[in-house]
Parts: sequence; structure tokens; C-alpha cells
Amino acid sequence: MEVIIQPSPKAVCAIAARHVAHLLRTKHKAVLGLPTGSTPISLYAEIVRMHREEGLDFKQATTFNLDEYVGIDPANPASYHSFMRQHLFDHLNLDPKNIHMPDGMAKDMPLACQAYETAIREAGGIDLQILGIGADGHIGFNEPSSSLSSRTRLKTLTDKTMRFNKSFFSPGQPVPRYAITMGVGTIMEARACLLLAFGDAKAVAVERMVEGAVSAMVPASILQMHPQAVVILDEAAAKNLRHKDYYRFVYNHKPEWQQR
Ligand code: GLP
Repeated sequence: MEVIIQPSPKAVCAIAARHVAHLLRTKHKAVLGLPTGSTPISLYAEIVRMHREEGLDFKQATTFNLDEYVGIDPANPASYHSFMRQHLFDHLNLDPKNIHMPDGMAKDMPLACQAYETAIREAGGIDLQILGIGADGHIGFNEPSSSLSSRTRLKTLTDKTMRFNKSFFSPGQPVPRYAITMGVGTIMEARACLLLAFGDAKAVAVERMVEGAVSAMVPASILQMHPQAVVILDEAAAKNLRHKDYYRFVYNHKPEWQQR
């Protein structure tokens, strides 16, 4: 696991955007795994800027989102479909048929989940999976105790996650208890994972993910087993890490061919 600590969320997103750009420029039909949440908003803004100003081309790219609420119409402003349109999809030249999001309105959930896994496989697998992290260490909507080899499936959200999600729904609107999410096993099959985290509220989860034991109680900790996982943090999210100086040294002394 490579840990990169940066002075600000903006600097974190600049590096993450360079990873995305590198993939798109070196792989003809790149496949991206995408998250929602407040964390990737600045990353998406930077990607949109690169598309507009530097010609970063998404014509041949394919995307798969991590998760979506169950029972929330894609037109609902609180849906992850709406979020993605607003922050990314409406601003890029992606082919709509290459955009994939879990169907939270599916009549047959197990079938929809299986179809999602099949679509990922048929696209050749995910090249780069971008991730945020929940304050309890969840990735996607894989809450603590999720099987570390789980696949795309329906998940019951914890009360804590529901309380957090409440701010994205208008007052009086019920907050979904269920979501469809790629499994931890699905995420681990991506050829590379890039997790971003900002702020004090993530410091404990980050510490447990990077320097704690691998445990289903901290699903993100499984990234320790991934052959190509990069974690990019701001100072606040990194504040509890014991080996901060080592991570800084490694990053500052990377050979040129490894720099991005
Ligand atoms: C939700 C999403 C996750 C995201 C997490 C953290 O649970 N399903 O993919 O990583 O929120 O969100 P934020 O980036 O807003 O802190």
C-alpha cells in the first residue's frame, strides 16, 4: 500500500486526477470504478477541467459506479445517479452506453446484482477503482462485518451511515435503509485502487485501514492485501498514522519513472 500525504484536499485531488489521466492516455478502453460522496467532488471538478482544457478524452472509456440506494429513483436529486450526472457525466464525452450504475429500482435484486458483475467482467474488469472511506472504515456501502470476499449485492446500512446520509436528503424525505453495492471482493479485483480521504473525521478509519489489522470490521483494511493500492490523504486524515515520516520519505524519493 502506498500512502501519500498532501497539505490539502486540492493537492490530493490533483494527484488523483493525474492517475486517472495517465490511465486514459495509456489504455485505449480504460475502465474506471467511481465513488460518490463529498470526497470525490473536487477530483471530478479537476477531471472535468482536464477534459475541457487539456482534451482528456473519455470517448472510449467505461465507468462502473460503486453503489446506489435501493428504492430511490435515478431522477431523485439525492440518488447517486443524479450526483454523478451533476458532478461528472454531464460534463464529459462519455458514451452513455458505457456508463454503468447499480439499479436501485430493480424488481429482481439478485439478478440485477449478478448482471452488474457480468457487465464488469465483460468490460474486461476495472483498471482503476477510485474510493472514499466511511468514518467506520466502509468502502462502497460495505459496512463493518461485510464479507471480505463479497460480490455486488443488497446491503443493509447501519444507523450511523443513515444518519450521515440524512444531510443529502430533503427534510422529511425518508433516508434509504438499503443499497446495492459492489462487494469487497469485486473492488479487490480492480487492477489498481486509489482511496482518497480528507479531514479529522476520517483519521481513525484511516489509521485502522493503513496500520491496523485486516478485518471485516474495517472493510477498507483489505486494501493492505491489494497489489496496487494507493491511499492519498490530507494532513488531517493522516494525523493518527505512526509511520507518517516514512510514507513522506518514500513519496519524496520516488524514482522519476514512478512519479505521477
Ligand atoms: C458513502 C458512500 C461511500 C463513500 C462514503 C464517504 O457511504 N457509499 O462510497 O466513500 O459515503 O463519503 P464522504 O466522501 O462524503 O465522506
